[in-house]
Amino acid sequence: MRCTLLWLWLLVVGTWHRSSSPAPRRLGDTTFRYQDLDPRRKEIRLLRILPEITSIIRCELFPVSLDNRCPYIAISYAWGDTDDTRIIILDGHEFVVTESLMLAFQRLRSKSAPVIVWADAICINQGNIEERNQQVQTMTRIYQQAIEVAIWLGPEADNSNMALELLFELYRHKSSKTNILAIIQSPNRRDSFTALVALFDREYWGRLWVVQEVLNGNNKTVYCGSSSLPWNICVTASDILRRHYADLLLAFLYTKGVAAISASGRTYPGQLSCGGPSVLHDLREDGASCGWLDVLLYHQEKNCAEPRDRLYGLYGILPEHEWSQFSVDYNKPVREVYIDVVDYLLTTTRRLDVICASINFPVHQNTHGMPSWCPDWSQRRRILPIGYRFSGFSASGALEPKATFSGKRRILNVAAIFLDTITSCGIPLNPPICKGALLMAFFEWREKLKEVQGFNQADHEAFHEAFCRTLSCGQLPDEYTPKDWLEWTYRTFALGLLGRYPHLKLDPHLMSYVQNFVSLSLGQQKQTLTENFTNAMTGRCFATTRNGLLCLGSGALQVEDIVCVPLGCSTPIILRRRGDGFTFIGDIYVDGYMGGKAIDDCNNGWLKVETFAIH
Ligand SMILES: *[C@@H]1O[C@H](CO)[C@@H](O)[C@H](O)[C@H]1NC(C)=O
Ligand SMILES: *[C@@H]1O[C@H](CO)[C@@H](O)[C@H](O)[C@H]1NC(C)=O
Repeated sequence: MRCTLLWLWLLVVGTWHRSSSPAPRRLGDTTFRYQDLDPRRKEIRLLRILPEITSIIRCELFPVSLDNRCPYIAISYAWGDTDDTRIIILDGHEFVVTESLMLAFQRLRSKSAPVIVWADAICINQGNIEERNQQVQTMTRIYQQAIEVAIWLGPEADNSNMALELLFELYRHKSSKTNILAIIQSPNRRDSFTALVALFDREYWGRLWVVQEVLNGNNKTVYCGSSSLPWNICVTASDILRRHYADLLLAFLYTKGVAAISASGRTYPGQLSCGGPSVLHDLREDGASCGWLDVLLYHQEKNCAEPRDRLYGLYGILPEHEWSQFSVDYNKPVREVYIDVVDYLLTTTRRLDVICASINFPVHQNTHGMPSWCPDWSQRRRILPIGYRFSGFSASGALEPKATFSGKRRILNVAAIFLDTITSCGIPLNPPICKGALLMAFFEWREKLKEVQGFNQADHEAFHEAFCRTLSCGQLPDEYTPKDWLEWTYRTFALGLLGRYPHLKLDPHLMSYVQNFVSLSLGQQKQTLTENFTNAMTGRCFATTRNGLLCLGSGALQVEDIVCVPLGCSTPIILRRRGDGFTFIGDIYVDGYMGGKAIDDCNNGWLKVETFAIH
């Protein structure tokens, strides 16, 4: 958990205190010792913060049973810098906490009466792994039963008071679009919006643990410096900003010719509409499709120091029957913990899609010795499986997977329909991408397309339609026919290329799509490129196969890799021969094969199911 470092620090400081002489003047001593909890009684520790008399925090720990319903405030906060510590007095002894937590105590304590809180860094004995394993599993209840969850964003800074005022103002005008628009466009509010962008940049929003702390809490308040605001008001204001993304774009994207960018490198409109409370969106509200895999992928960009916490930190938002299948065990090797997830999903969902989350591009150092088919959740990935990003793929129809483990669960033996071998591929489009990279990828991929038979043949049109469909992973807007889509795609890219590289010579075929149409404005072009192609093309490259299939696969693919459709997987995958088995490379869009054609071809005897041992 997040407290390991602090614990080490504590040991070091403790030792130093004992050996230094003469002893410095101290407020207490450092010999604080935890009393063991009784797990059979569902005991937790609560912290009584004594009323303010001096600036130093004095508090007392006491055990209670969770069944006892003692009222307390659960604190949800970001650890802050673990080197930046303060001393508090705990049961008469000195105890080291991060500055962030000390400030939270100062904010919550009262002048007249004790305040009872729960905070992970103190209430769990972080040095006792067995206790940690046990207490982490009670965290759902700890946050559910709290009379209040105090969301501590940290001390006042960067005009944070103005930011909270702005949230409240947006909330007050929630039923008037005109007023909201006026707020967004008002030059007088610029500083408030800048303050809000900074507030949404705070470390708190990026923490993995806070997800379950906030989602399980019932009565939540946001505290920042001396200001506070009920959580629901923040959520409503944040929803308003999301709905007004287009207006935010107009108001903030370009101020004096440069885009307004937050300290963390996000644009103002992006940060305001997708940052802050919206990163703690409750997937359960979206209904049906909210399994383990969705939850893991949705929160994959959040931060946590301990790789096992990628899972343990999210148990609390899964239905109890799901997480009760897993135990929390900080002694178990990370690899085994991650393999458990694949194993569990394979058995319970009867789907194989989880292996597609094992994105091995851009190449990262696999630090835990993970097999290639097992997602390494400790890596923050910027590319999502196409089967997660876009809905509606069913490459293997309704068939269930046939997959077994061997070699101490290092090898996954997967039944799959062999489709073809890759014979040509373009340059991969590495994230983060810009418009120029997108245009050049299109240009290069279309040059590669010319190597394929069919480029200049009779069913010319259908061939180009297939190419354009591939570039967007088959995501055609409803009102577009394949022909419309071809024209739209070629026109947008050709105009983009000509606008950016006026000396580039495009071939007559591509030019014909420019000449026949009115030109698009720069804004429209940019919007189309981003909305229609970025998600599909990022992290991928165009490839063609021996038999002329058009594909868009993981950027890591190479010539000679094979493409197959595993039973129970919604998209085809790429495998590479290695020794007597295969390595998993990534998922792939194969034009024409995303809706079950492989199964039909199999039934007709043209293709066949084989078993692939993936290492
Ligand atoms: C919500 O929290 C506040 C502050 O701790 C408390 O006064 C109030 O009673 C709580 N409301 C409920 C419904 O528990
Ligand atoms: C493509 O972009 C247009 C706007 O430029 C948008 O209306 C349309 O929904 C987008 N289509 C897809 C599939 O993203």
